[in-house]
Amino acid sequence: MKTKPNAGNKKNILCIGAGYVGGPTMAMIAAKCPDYRVTVVDINAQRIAAWNSEDLPIYEPGLDELVRTVRGRNLFFSTDIEGGIRDNDIIFVSVNTPTKTFGAGAGMAADLQYWEKTARQILENSVTNKIVIEKSTLPVKTALAMERILNSQPNGGAFDVLSNPEFLAEGSAIRDLENPDRVLIGARETERGRSARNSIVEIYSRWVPRDRIITTNIWSSELSKLVSNAFLAQRISSINAISALCEKTEADVAEVARAVGMDSRIGAKFLNASVGFGGSCFKKDILNLVYLCRFYGLDDVADYWESVVKINAYQQERFVMNMITSMFNTLAGKRICIFGFAFKANTGDTRESPAIFIAKRLLEEQAEVVISDPKALDNARIDLSGLAGVLDYREDPYEAAAGCHAIAVMTEWDIYRALDYERVYREMAKPAFIFDGRNILDHSECFRIGFNVYPIGKPPLTHFDS
Ligand code: UDX
Ligand code: ADP
Repeated sequence: MKTKPNAGNKKNILCIGAGYVGGPTMAMIAAKCPDYRVTVVDINAQRIAAWNSEDLPIYEPGLDELVRTVRGRNLFFSTDIEGGIRDNDIIFVSVNTPTKTFGAGAGMAADLQYWEKTARQILENSVTNKIVIEKSTLPVKTALAMERILNSQPNGGAFDVLSNPEFLAEGSAIRDLENPDRVLIGARETERGRSARNSIVEIYSRWVPRDRIITTNIWSSELSKLVSNAFLAQRISSINAISALCEKTEADVAEVARAVGMDSRIGAKFLNASVGFGGSCFKKDILNLVYLCRFYGLDDVADYWESVVKINAYQQERFVMNMITSMFNTLAGKRICIFGFAFKANTGDTRESPAIFIAKRLLEEQAEVVISDPKALDNARIDLSGLAGVLDYREDPYEAAAGCHAIAVMTEWDIYRALDYERVYREMAKPAFIFDGRNILDHSECFRIGFNVYPIGKPPLTHFDS
């Protein structure tokens, strides 16, 4: 599909990268700014076809309705990246920046190859002035590299590079976009930089109160995104570390979190102990921060932040070890049902989901694994493809649990709270175990039914003599 701008529209916006960030963000901008024509392009033709279909490539509550109201009106999805660059003067870049898997910085630094390719493509196809906005989370000073590439050969136009990190969380993306805590826009403190920044402020100010739109220099903006994610993940690792101590002392981590979180200086959010955090951002962004600190010789600072990721790995391994020891030191030949494969509820995304690690470890222990999830089974099949062992996928949780020795709750989907656990119990092998990696079930009720229940950071409820 070609991306010719509509002369009647005031301004044209392009977004390169139609993923979890680019798609929903541009749909919201299109909805709030009907006089802008918004085009989203991607190299992945299948993804674009899905955005143009009734079956969108990502699941996000409220997204279908939002896209339906704006698609074809002032929101367009296309594979014509070059045409898009030519025809649009405001270009958001929202391509993926995974952790490098090879060479220098492997496992730590961001892999910038997709992003650099985009910068070169913008340069090659630009004949007029462009405002280029980093939307992907990137290492600090990436904007500088982008500026250098864009200014490496003279062409018809000049470039202004801005940083406008996206803070939406998956599962609540539409709500977060509609009512953000803040919008952050970083620019160079020059007349041109400030003027480019104002063009982006103008877009957001259509629906975001002006005092929530904050402007900074470009490096502060880039760093703030990494630091926000590092702080959020740090809270989870902190409470997860305490959950291990609670299990030894008979303290209850939910009671501790409540008492701690009621201190207004600390706050109650993001203190839910769990099997560990997942998602495409936390681990990647912290490792990015760690790499940056080491690069500048700040090894103590790097170690401090790296420990957040280490505790997350520890928590996941601890979960598996707890299953093994509780189930009489062997899982071989036992059937174990995983309730939820997405990295959190209300998304089909499984990137860095703890369920991937847990499923792999259970297979290593020669357990048979049944995966259940309302939205993430397609991704689960991809994540676990090629693994040796017995693996089964069942969307229906009752079917999934039937005949199993244990259930491991990995995702806090509401459906798992509302199941008839009497029925689940009846159809399971005995003794039946529940390992609640999200602390979402009614543990005393499950115990009453007959389950042996192992929450996170709380004493287990078992029918065995100690
Ligand atoms: C995160 C940031 O919240 C968001 O601002 C940023 O733009 C992208 O990264 P996201 O990864 O989509 O968003 O989801 P989030 O709600 O932050 O959850 C991340 C992980 O932490 C999930 O696996 C979640 O289940 C887990 N989590 C969250 C906990 O284990 N306990 C908590 O208390 C909160
Ligand atoms: P995020 O969660 O950050 O949005 P995703 O992986 O969901 O990340 O989306 C990134 C998108 O960027 C993918 O759809 C991918 O195909 C696209 N992409 C990567 N490189 C390019 C490129 N050079 N040009 C256009 N799109 C690209």
